[in-house]
Amino acid sequence: MTQEQGKVRIEQLSREIEDHNYRYYVLAKPVISDFEFDKLLEELITLENKFPDLVLPTSPSQRVGGQITKEFETVKHKYPMLSLGNTYSEEELRDFDERIHKIIPGEKVEYVCELKFDGVAIGVSYSNGIISRGITRGDGVQGDDVTANVKTIRSIPMILQQGDYPSEFEIRGEIIMHRKDFNRINEQREDIGEIAYANPRNFASGTLKLQDSAEVAKRKLDCYFYALYGDFHFKTHFESLAKAEQWGFKISKEIKLCSSLDEVFDFINHWGKKRDTLGFDIDGVVIKVNSYRQQEELGFTAKSPRWAISYKYKAASVSTLLESVSYQVGRTGAITPVANLTPVLLAGTTVKRASLHNADQIEKLDLHEGDTVFVEKGGEIIPKITGVDLMQRKQGSRSIIYIKNCPECNTPLDRIEGEAIHYCPNESGCPPQIVGKLEHFASRKAMNIDGLGSETCDLLFKENLVRNVADIYSLTEENIASLERMGSKSAANLIAGIEKSKEVPFERVLFAIGIRYVGDTVAKKLARYFKSMDAIQHSSLEELAGAPEVGEKIAQSVHHWMKQKNNIDLINRLKAAGLQIAIHHDNNSFVSDKLKGLSILVTGTLTKYKREEIKEVIEKNGGKAASSPSAKTSYVLAGDDPSTGKIEKAEKLKIPIITEEQFNEMIAN
Ligand code: IVH
Repeated sequence: MTQEQGKVRIEQLSREIEDHNYRYYVLAKPVISDFEFDKLLEELITLENKFPDLVLPTSPSQRVGGQITKEFETVKHKYPMLSLGNTYSEEELRDFDERIHKIIPGEKVEYVCELKFDGVAIGVSYSNGIISRGITRGDGVQGDDVTANVKTIRSIPMILQQGDYPSEFEIRGEIIMHRKDFNRINEQREDIGEIAYANPRNFASGTLKLQDSAEVAKRKLDCYFYALYGDFHFKTHFESLAKAEQWGFKISKEIKLCSSLDEVFDFINHWGKKRDTLGFDIDGVVIKVNSYRQQEELGFTAKSPRWAISYKYKAASVSTLLESVSYQVGRTGAITPVANLTPVLLAGTTVKRASLHNADQIEKLDLHEGDTVFVEKGGEIIPKITGVDLMQRKQGSRSIIYIKNCPECNTPLDRIEGEAIHYCPNESGCPPQIVGKLEHFASRKAMNIDGLGSETCDLLFKENLVRNVADIYSLTEENIASLERMGSKSAANLIAGIEKSKEVPFERVLFAIGIRYVGDTVAKKLARYFKSMDAIQHSSLEELAGAPEVGEKIAQSVHHWMKQKNNIDLINRLKAAGLQIAIHHDNNSFVSDKLKGLSILVTGTLTKYKREEIKEVIEKNGGKAASSPSAKTSYVLAGDDPSTGKIEKAEKLKIPIITEEQFNEMIAN
């Protein structure tokens, strides 16, 4: 292929792929499968590698990120990013409406009601229909240039659809994270001992500030737009949003043009009740005067427009007494302070405890013993303390001082520089860390030991039968049967479960031993790259960091773990017990790429494979195991008694449903 032919094909592919991105991420109506999409992208990337001079800054290949930004450049906003006045009651909204009618007496005023997205504000500029810059709000006058990160957000167009837009303009919106993505990614963080984010807004904001755009690309941010800035000639705001939608921007469907305040209240009350159904967080409604002429007449105060206001939903809040602060120790030794409260009813549930996050949070709240505190339930599931009722503070009450030693084993706590969290370093002697590690080791995603749940782990530890995960393999039926509530039958079952775990493949053993930052995905990558525990144990920091998708932080954590004497002993004992500490290619574990590019959802019980096994088989043959049907799912593999919900959804999405035999044929030699 000549350079000229390459150029034509690259442009054609770029346009085609961006169109599919738009259909998938903005319209939610894809027309090709995930597999076909990947094929197009692969072709583009191959061509771009062949003709590097032809890589366009707007190429869909740029959406996967990769740029490492040293520091974000601070840029002045062309149009200042103002904030909105807040209202919390119907009365305050009526005052807003009255103020408007005083300034433009006798005129009919239409309002546009929009959701107030609880995310991070962004201003995105376009030059001749091509994305040029993305800037955060900052202080409203200047913000950070986060263009590389913005380009990874698939719902933000790189190139606009044909349209009558000016050559230069800016569009503003809110970057959000959907709750399902937030929960999934946050759970993965917890799995590897990272501290979970409090809510999707913090997660979105933390993500946008990452200096590694490839990591941003993985986190699945989304963006809704709500205002245009530039040389436009629209008469109304409503009309401007309709146009923006035609040019390819994602505009929320939940917008209402209202000709009376009562209609505004209806919208507010509707979403007040239904906000949970949206799948992302909102914290209120924004009410804007529709006519641009009226907006101009109304103008601005020093901080905000007179033609718009937000109505904020009140977070449910109550006050109660702080009885004490206790400190929980996680399996990685991370300490979480928890406030124990006098039980109080809040938004339908009785609240007894609230998370205090870390030492900084306690200091910020300036908590004293016996304080009356305000507790709120916002987007988070766990309620939080938002402040102290100083009027109720008892004279002479003492400040809460963060503990210096572990509440469980009295070891002095560590705090890694730059991190907010304290850790107990006594990994092998601190009871909750030991029990937590046992639970993690036996859990489904790890060694999947039937009969070894959290209660049994606790019991085994208390009875001094198990002190670390290797001790599990020295247990006998007799000493298990001697435990409270354990008959000889459950003892035999547990021993059988332990025996079976010796077949669990190396990658899951590596995940099970619970190295900080090594989740199931990283464990898989490490196992496949190094192939054995020995190789990992003898790798240098540089070699570890050189493995695919292993950064400095993970490499350091693995390296440190592997060098500890007690961990070396532990590995030796696991080896001696007969666990899989290297990748074996026996007859059952064939590897192929027969399922390459396919995403397969399994539902129901299969005859040949258990749940965890089938996932492995799919992955070993190059496929992806999906957890719920989506437009990206290639097949649904239905076993006995499948989930009717999943089957119905698959039928609706026209995903082919296959039997276990058909699946076996697909992967047969
Ligand atoms: S319009 C002149 N519309 O709320 C201000 N803002 O306090 C124009 N926000 O920083 C803003 N949803 O990030 C507007 N539908 C919406 C919004 C919205 C969320 C945020 C925005 C802004 C803050 C205003």
